[in-house]
Amino acid sequence: MRSPIDIYLADLYDDLVGLSAGTTYQGIPAMADADNSKFAIAMATVDGHVYQIGDAELEFSIQSISKPFSYALALDDIGLDAVDEKIDVEPSGDAFNEISLARNTGRPANAMINAGAITTISLIRDRDTPRFERILDHFSAAAGRRLKLNESLYASEALTGHRNRALAYLLRSFDIIETDPTPVLEDYFRACSVMVNTHDLALMAATLANGGTQPATGVQVMSKDAVQRTLSVMTTCGMYDDAGAWIAAVGLPAKSGVGGGLIAVLPGQLGLAIYSPALDEHGSSVRGVAASERISSDMGLHFV
Ligand code: DON
Repeated sequence: MRSPIDIYLADLYDDLVGLSAGTTYQGIPAMADADNSKFAIAMATVDGHVYQIGDAELEFSIQSISKPFSYALALDDIGLDAVDEKIDVEPSGDAFNEISLARNTGRPANAMINAGAITTISLIRDRDTPRFERILDHFSAAAGRRLKLNESLYASEALTGHRNRALAYLLRSFDIIETDPTPVLEDYFRACSVMVNTHDLALMAATLANGGTQPATGVQVMSKDAVQRTLSVMTTCGMYDDAGAWIAAVGLPAKSGVGGGLIAVLPGQLGLAIYSPALDEHGSSVRGVAASERISSDMGLHFV
């Protein structure tokens, strides 16, 4: 028997699958020819149930949806104050790859834009276990299954990521990044190249909704403090230069990625994830934004 939520999601899928606006991400050659007929919606509750429709098991790269999870890991590694010294918590109102650094200090505006996310990677502990192994373990724990790095996508990102390279060296010049920028960049590109599906992302979002405890496995992946801070920054900065319109329309902390994934979180209740690779001018999935607006309005999820 299909539940009312399954029926609702199937109707929503049918309504939105015809949306043809947007273009796939052109910045990384390996991603430009993603199939825009693909579309999935998944919703995970804090008791671990996942409702899903469409291509929810199809894998794609996590891209910028890695940023809130890396941020939470850095917060738990070195504490909020030490992270705040390096990364501010202000919306930049700029595009994700903007050179948004404070004029005198070089401090990035927030951890959701690339400048802040690259800095975040430099703050993650790298002593006993290699840093990327810790990042992958952390993302996997939030998803509740072993995730994998897409090596060829990573190579493509590393080859074409000149702007990120420039950002990292600028951050190094201000001593915001205190080590060699190259290994930091490599781990940033790797974090963006982790493969997930929509089911995984819904559970990762639900882990944030559930105060850091993965709802299906019961593993405490992040502290409550790290989650609270991460959700705050997702609310004000997660959708970049679309953050204001997003919060007005959807009213939930969220994060998009140029791979076509999008997550939104209703604290205490559920994690929502959508996949569809055609993007709007902000780098967010067109069907992802449309589905989020509909779900928030139909289910009354707008929390402000
Ligand atoms: O670093 C980059 O520019 C990409 N690897 C990720 C950008 C991204 O996903 C922006 N979000 N919508």
